[in-house]
Amino acid sequence: MLPETLPRPPAIALDEYRARRRALMDALPVGSAVMLPAASLVTRSNDSDYPFRQNSDFHYLTGFPEPDALLLLLPGREAGESVLFCPDKDPQLEAWTGIRIGAEAAVARYGVDQAFANAERDGRLSELLDGRQALYLPLDDAAAVASAEGIRLMLKARARQGARPPEAFADVAPLIHEQRLIKSEAELALMRHAARISAQAHVRAMRVARPGLHEYQLQAELEHEFRWQGGSGPAYGTIVGGGANACVLHYVENAARLEADTLVLIDAGAEFEGYAGDITRTFPVSGRFSEAQRALYDVVLTAQERAVAAVSPGVTLSEIHQGVVRDLTHGLVELGLLAGEVEARIDDASYKRFYLHSTSHWLGLDVHDVGGYRRDGTPRQLVPGMVLTVEPGLYIPDDDDIPADLRGTGIRIEDDVAVTVEGHEVLTATVPKRADEIEALMAKE
Ligand code: GLY
Ligand code: MN
Ligand code: MN
Repeated sequence: MLPETLPRPPAIALDEYRARRRALMDALPVGSAVMLPAASLVTRSNDSDYPFRQNSDFHYLTGFPEPDALLLLLPGREAGESVLFCPDKDPQLEAWTGIRIGAEAAVARYGVDQAFANAERDGRLSELLDGRQALYLPLDDAAAVASAEGIRLMLKARARQGARPPEAFADVAPLIHEQRLIKSEAELALMRHAARISAQAHVRAMRVARPGLHEYQLQAELEHEFRWQGGSGPAYGTIVGGGANACVLHYVENAARLEADTLVLIDAGAEFEGYAGDITRTFPVSGRFSEAQRALYDVVLTAQERAVAAVSPGVTLSEIHQGVVRDLTHGLVELGLLAGEVEARIDDASYKRFYLHSTSHWLGLDVHDVGGYRRDGTPRQLVPGMVLTVEPGLYIPDDDDIPADLRGTGIRIEDDVAVTVEGHEVLTATVPKRADEIEALMAKE
């Protein structure tokens, strides 16, 4: 029998894309324009490209899926405020690389006011931007800045004929990123789905795991599920770390054999319609925790559960992290991995030998999603619509002063959590994380 296929949530409606563009235009000073390029294809090696992934900001504002497009936002322009340039229709080329949408269809399908083929871009851009005082573009995109500079020089050269070049370039990214930080209902539906697929993939890996398999075989199980459910693939490099490999935070080799009596840490999430899932689970390769492993696991689990419970409007990520540091340090002292008083070990930062990353990041179109973490110099308060991860961990080095049964053990537990008016919603709740639940799942054939 074929595995179950989860029902897909609806795509983002054209009106929502329109509203996003409107909101960005409304946030600009009068007389400004936005110029935002799509991503380009990148060569992998001779005649083959890396899989195309649209620029997240461009995707957020257009939903347009092709490379080398360009969006202009021209508030107040009567002939149309949102203008898209896109790859030209070219039947010969399309026979090799697939159908292109083309300018005509782009207006109907993506709801922009006007669209032109890229062949018209050079001729039209300077005319469209003539008279705009400030041009907002991504300032970290060297090609975009060079192109804007070219347009400015062209308009300057025509100043005597009355052309007015933009007086300033400004960064559009922070404005878009503030919008992206608060997810709409439609985005949350897509994120729930990305999370659900990711959770199902973790369950699948737990079921299959056993000593003698290799890390890449669990990676294959996870990524099979991502694609089977219509995700585009992993939202970031899948991490499967057996034994001491779990202590390497961005381990991606995934090449080692899984040994009995060790734990395996999996950090993996699907991308669905551009949105990322991001889940970590850690479980025993043979399906049963040793006493020492479970004691350490429960320290991380307690910290993680308490941190998830704390997610609520008004709270800050910094407060959540401080709670995690307290709980983990308390556990490290109880287990004898740190000596002395909990407060003292927090103050002298000795817990950082075992916990060296932060507890949360924003999640959305990017796995480490955009949006400021601070406002006016202080950590910002959570508001409904934000989505974050909660991912404490402990990484016990393979050092002589560590009890032998915990040397080279890494544990992280990570869930995706949306902030709601009432508190929070855990998007990844369908993958077990209590030690007993994991053992029960792994015991089932
Ligand atoms: N997978 C990247 C992270 O958890 O932040
Ligand atoms: Mn994460
Ligand atoms: Mn992760």
